[in-house]
Amino acid sequence: MTSNRLLPWTPPYVAYFTLRLARITLKRLQSRWANVSKASILVTGGAGYIGSNTVQLLSLQGYDVTVVDNLSRGYRHNVDPDRLHEIDLAETQTLADLLKKRAIDAVIHFAAYIAVGESMKVPEAYFSNNVVGSLSLLTAMLLAGVKKIVFSSTAAVYGMPLQIPIKESAPYAPVSPYGESKVMVEKMLGWFDQIHALRSVSLRYFNASGADPAGHIGEEHEPETHLIPLIFRAIETGIPVTIFGTDYETADGTCIRDYIHVNDLAQAHILAVESLFAGGASGAYNVGTGVGYSVLEVIRAAEQITGKKIPFDIRPRREGDPPTLVADPTLLRSTFGWTSHYDLRDIVSTAWNFELKRKLARV
Ligand code: UFG
Repeated sequence: MTSNRLLPWTPPYVAYFTLRLARITLKRLQSRWANVSKASILVTGGAGYIGSNTVQLLSLQGYDVTVVDNLSRGYRHNVDPDRLHEIDLAETQTLADLLKKRAIDAVIHFAAYIAVGESMKVPEAYFSNNVVGSLSLLTAMLLAGVKKIVFSSTAAVYGMPLQIPIKESAPYAPVSPYGESKVMVEKMLGWFDQIHALRSVSLRYFNASGADPAGHIGEEHEPETHLIPLIFRAIETGIPVTIFGTDYETADGTCIRDYIHVNDLAQAHILAVESLFAGGASGAYNVGTGVGYSVLEVIRAAEQITGKKIPFDIRPRREGDPPTLVADPTLLRSTFGWTSHYDLRDIVSTAWNFELKRKLARV
């Protein structure tokens, strides 16, 4: 309304400059996107489960990807050998040299130990690898002048949250050295943002699961502690999978989790890094679907998809397991336009497809 009324009075030079400004903005946007599509990204932990899926998706979307992994938990077969640099996070100067040599624009940082139970036995390993390792990486980034990072965080930063679904504003309350190590890095990132203008996006994953639909990359942890791969082991060996506790205050008494497909997670990293390229601010975001399933529901879904009976036995609760962990993913959706494309059935069937391919490769 207002602009229509003003238009006839707009002097020609204002219209001319408005047009020019619009053209420049368009050109800048075009060149920004051209740059983005050629951006050079370093992925630490790129030989691991979520890291290698993200590397695959980044390459498909035209990014120039360099992988750093010390192969202590990742697998060589997950990465194209031309991309892989076997470097430990502790090697600050080597990392800085690589960042410079490869003209890296941003880092996506996965490399970390991830087993909650193990962290309760050897906390020193978690603080050393996850916290000191991250500090070394951040120092290398400063040395090389790289000021953008996407960080692999976790729902474990919330501990036993009081409100479900969990919002990012819930307080930090980790109940394991693993969760604490991620809180410490998130806090470091806050200070690096304030003091060094190093921008970061921390993605707090809920239960990463599933495999890439082609069946090349899936969960291969050793020892395996995650529910879905352990269900498949029960099918293979006939040894029952354990259900840790049926006395929780949930509908069927077993724990509820928010299972998020690894490709949906990978896509969240790409949107996050693109937001940093577009000048976005630092922040922390939940990555989950907003829908929770109980352990028994996951077992039933696996029975339907595989057509096999899954043997299970019931044992007492596992230490440190919250009854329910479900994300409120609103912030991620509204900020990045992210949405999950895979549900529990897709998660279980892609994971099963991966298991079958792995089994075929073994025989
Ligand atoms: N569970 C069993 N039997 C098993 C393994 C798991 O009953 O043999 C149950 C657990 O008690 C839990 C659920 O299945 O209720 C999922 O357990 P996982 O071990 O697969 O995953 P967690 O929920 O313990 O933890 C995962 C990641 C964490 C992350 C968390 C966020 O490993 O890093 O999701 O939700 F913090």
